Amino acid sequence: MIGAASESNHDYLRSLGAEPVAYGDGLVEAVLGLAPDGVDAALDLVGGEALAVSPRLVRRAERIVSVIDADTVKRLGGRYVFVRPEPRMLGDISRLVDEGVLRVTIARTFPLAEPAAAPELSQTGHGRGKIVITVP
Ligand SMILES: NC(=O)c1ccc[n+]([C@@H]2O[C@H](COP(=O)([O-])OP(=O)(O)OC[C@H]3O[C@@H](n4cnc5c(N)ncnc54)[C@H](OP(=O)(O)O)[C@@H]3O)[C@@H](O)[C@H]2O)c1
Repeated sequence: MIGAASESNHDYLRSLGAEPVAYGDGLVEAVLGLAPDGVDAALDLVGGEALAVSPRLVRRAERIVSVIDADTVKRLGGRYVFVRPEPRMLGDISRLVDEGVLRVTIARTFPLAEPAAAPELSQTGHGRGKIVITVP
């Protein structure tokens, strides 16, 4: 597994079992340096250039998945995934958390009395993990 993030998150990626690479210029070369024949699948969580270069990274275009840009990923031959919260699936997810299979990283916790703080952090695009708002 290979993960792209800024340098400050490379140890975190290693802790998840991924080989870290930097995004931006040199992403394709870095990934192909680790996987010279290309990777099995690419998961796009940011769109833009990261999605545009995905066909150069994967062996099969239908294994490109984006949660960001439906039009572009379909044009590239991949798939768009949209998550809809569903009580049954949320139950399955909480079970995986209870069993320790799924770990959820909390970026920050804000009180409901500070309504602007959570969206501000979210909009930085670098808030690793979930942002929690506590309701009194
Ligand atoms: N389709 C769906 O169902 C669905 C569901 C949930 C979320 N989304 C979308 O998914 C996106 C990500 O959500 P999120 O909550 O994870 O956002 P987020 O908390 O803002 O996460 C941003 C992460 O992406 C990394 N990043 C920023 N620019 C990058 C780049 N060019 N290449 C690789 N990594 C980059 C950042 O790492 P560094 O800090 O190391 O730069 C940061 O950790 C959002 O646009 C959201 O709307 C879609």
